[in-house]
Amino acid sequence: MSPVAGPDRRSRLRSATDDSHRRLDEIVDQAGFFDDRPSYASYLEATLRARQPLELTLTDSGAEALFEAWPDRRIVAALREDIADVTGTVPAADPIVIVSTMSPAQAIGSLYVLEGSALGGRQLALRAHAIGMSPAFGARHFAQQTATPKSWSTFLRVLEALPLDTAEEDACIAAAVAVFASFERAYSAVTMPPLRALRSLPSTSPRPLPTPSRPSPAS
Ligand code: HEM
Repeated sequence: MSPVAGPDRRSRLRSATDDSHRRLDEIVDQAGFFDDRPSYASYLEATLRARQPLELTLTDSGAEALFEAWPDRRIVAALREDIADVTGTVPAADPIVIVSTMSPAQAIGSLYVLEGSALGGRQLALRAHAIGMSPAFGARHFAQQTATPKSWSTFLRVLEALPLDTAEEDACIAAAVAVFASFERAYSAVTMPPLRALRSLPSTSPRPLPTPSRPSPAS
């Protein structure tokens, strides 16, 4: 099959995932993930849940051969330290079984989403700093993501240079959409109404129930 012509691959990926990105922005905003430390801890845990299996699968799929900087772009270790900073508890390692590896087309589409998320990371880092996080406490993963601003342009060169046929191009886009969906699932799971309602209950003891009035003795 012939290589895909037309607009560049990054533009195709961006337009295919634009709606997903907008939905994610809304979920993160509505959840109030950056309002206080408990909410931020939920954000970190949800990010870890979405990101950990992806990083492992990408590594197993040989992402480093596609994108040389990949080993330094993995943030799961920093995320785990951030969670330990904020909650005082090191998160338990999830038992993860890699059942399949990604093709180069799927890997580059997935890397597009993970690397792109570092761009928004600059804004999110500022919001984390406002609740007391820093590159040495709770916001280590943002510091790592944003430490090398040139990484995005390097990645874009790799993204555009990979030869893909039409079917592979479709697989690349489908992978990016699927990765966005896994972040959406992870963040939505934290923000479902019942959980949000429970998190916003006052931490003090509940008000005592009113004492039921005794029926007056029959006269
Ligand atoms: C509220 C949370 C988020 C905000 C405020 C945000 C913000 C941004 C901003 C401002 C950019 C453009 C930066 C630039 O062009 O210099 C961007 C790009 C991007 N973000 Fe996010 N982001 C958020 C969450 C995420 C998440 C969770 C993901 C994926 C897991 C993600 C994936 C992407 C991607 C792939 C791009 C690159 C789009 C392109 O090709 O231009 N973002 N984000």
